[in-house]
Amino acid sequence: MAPAHYTRLVLQERPKGDIDANTFRRETIPFDLKPGSCQVLVRTEYVSIDAAMRSWLRDVRSYIPPVQIGDVMRADGLATVIEAGVDCKLKPGDIVRCTPGWAEYAVLDEKTCQALKVPPGAEPLDFLGPLGITGMTAYFGLHDVGKIKPGDTLVVSGAAGATGSLVCQLAKIHGAKVVAIAGSEDKCKWLTDELGVDVAFNYKSRTFYSDFKKRIGYIDLFFDNVGGSLLNFMLTRLNKGARIVLCGAISDYNSDKPTGLSAYSNLISQRASLQGFIVFDYASRYREARQEMAEWLASGKLKRRFQVVEGLENAPKALLMLYSGGNTGKLVVRVSSPRTQAKL
Ligand SMILES: NC(=O)c1ccc[n+]([C@@H]2O[C@H](COP(=O)([O-])OP(=O)(O)OC[C@H]3O[C@@H](n4cnc5c(N)ncnc54)[C@H](OP(=O)(O)O)[C@@H]3O)[C@@H](O)[C@H]2O)c1
Repeated sequence: MAPAHYTRLVLQERPKGDIDANTFRRETIPFDLKPGSCQVLVRTEYVSIDAAMRSWLRDVRSYIPPVQIGDVMRADGLATVIEAGVDCKLKPGDIVRCTPGWAEYAVLDEKTCQALKVPPGAEPLDFLGPLGITGMTAYFGLHDVGKIKPGDTLVVSGAAGATGSLVCQLAKIHGAKVVAIAGSEDKCKWLTDELGVDVAFNYKSRTFYSDFKKRIGYIDLFFDNVGGSLLNFMLTRLNKGARIVLCGAISDYNSDKPTGLSAYSNLISQRASLQGFIVFDYASRYREARQEMAEWLASGKLKRRFQVVEGLENAPKALLMLYSGGNTGKLVVRVSSPRTQAKL
């Protein structure tokens, strides 16, 4: 049954620098949502917390339009269909992957909702992790952009995060030597002991740069989630013909003045390449990737870890965790009932 009121979080003010208490506004408003033809009313169960969300708050040209002031904050999520409008194939009770935003309820066009067919060995929440956009980013970034080969020495930054932790494991499946970079000793231990990377470095260690040079030397492939000074350093570590996959640049997302790259001329001397990509360009191939990822999940070759923050009101705090390294694995916020409860 629909409640009398529901809660949503809207963009109140564009942040300058870090997101703060004024960035979002919580609104509890009378429930007046009704699906039209080919629309569904959904109750949000989980929302995905993604590093790219900070970039959606910037009023600049990008791969996706910015969130407007007063709009519900955009977010992917899992939701249950409560009511389906006329001409809908979805029905009440269906669980869908969709973009409900930071709202307890939403009316969405049916064509933007994907009914979940959960493969054996997986769970619904995996559609926000390895079987969702995060997994597709790791898969296509590593295979299609990075062109990973057996025997490559691959470095992954942001390695203990949602995307990075999957990239590390996919690369091991492909027979690469995997060097992970993360921001704490605990994360490094998880990466080596649980995920099986060959070496993990804490980039916050005072001896990180010299340790890396001594133990690793030069590299064939860099999957970069971080950008900034780490990318600049890796530009000095390239083997001839090395590839850099520019997946993200989280170290610069809160800054109006991104760090410049002084070491870029190594791309010339080493005949190397640096290529950015946006996962949405591979949408027509998600099905094939999802099938392979599901097989690796079922066989135990691919592990995933979810970190669940409780309550929609804590979504802004959760988002901040990504920029301070407060998460390990995929960060999500549980908004409502546990129909799609994670196996943690
Ligand atoms: N190109 C695409 O289509 C695409 C699609 C999805 C995501 N992405 C990108 O992929 C990256 C990862 O996103 P995600 O959602 O999976 O987040 P995530 O990796 O789960 O979380 C972000 C991690 O980044 C690390 N970090 C934060 N600030 C840092 C800094 N200044 N220096 C070094 N590390 C820092 C933190 O870990 P530590 O403790 O290790 O610092 C944090 O846990 C982001 O850059 C995102 O924009 C790109």
